[in-house]
Amino acid sequence: MSYYIDIDQCGPMYLDALIKIKNEIDPTLTFRRSCREGICGSCAMALDGRHHLACIFQYPRNLDPSFIYPLNMQTVVKDLVVDMTMFYSQYKSIEPYLKRKTLKAKDQKEYIQTIEDRAKIDGLYECVLCNSCSSSCPSYWWHPNEFQGPSILMQTFRWVIDSRDEFREERLEKVGNDMKIGECEQLGSCSANCPKQLNPRKAIKELKELYEEYKKTKELKTVTVLEEVEKIESAHH
Ligand code: SF4
Ligand code: FES
Repeated sequence: MSYYIDIDQCGPMYLDALIKIKNEIDPTLTFRRSCREGICGSCAMALDGRHHLACIFQYPRNLDPSFIYPLNMQTVVKDLVVDMTMFYSQYKSIEPYLKRKTLKAKDQKEYIQTIEDRAKIDGLYECVLCNSCSSSCPSYWWHPNEFQGPSILMQTFRWVIDSRDEFREERLEKVGNDMKIGECEQLGSCSANCPKQLNPRKAIKELKELYEEYKKTKELKTVTVLEEVEKIESAHH
């Protein structure tokens, strides 16, 4: 569908243009939006060739046409609305919340972090789960049911390195088993398409390194346990 609007009578963002079209020309035009300030992540779409949040991205103020599409390679429900069901269930599967094994001490209200530990999750916690990165990732296009995609992997990393979380090993175990992290080819399309200027490519690289370290430690532990078992057995013979 093509629409013509008077940009002198319209706000500067792509979302302003879409709302103007919906209000004045075509009430059936369907898109998601909520916060209008880049926080809820619901207005992600392909805007003149790149993924962005329509509420915080300005359209060019010239007479050239603008092209607006739904997020790439996603099932379209209607117009600019894509089906996010799988994305949300993948997010749920990583248990994206603080998990502890030790109980709080009496009268303890908070889990304190050092300033340095807190700084480690900068650039990760700001993710608004818009799915712009994953839907621009070729590995995610090819097998979204197996490879979890940059957004989910970056959020996994965010919990793995949180000094307050006590399920680091279990989270890393999952990375190897279910998440197919090896499918990431480090192309960087995810980071180039993140409207919040985050860097999922780098987060996945660091998560891969942590996973490799974890795997080595686990192998060493297994070898040590086997050696102990052998010693005990030979002592009994
Ligand atoms: S990393 Fe960026 S593009 Fe990916 S879901 Fe988060 S905010 Fe959106
Ligand atoms: S409307 Fe919330 S991020 Fe755009």
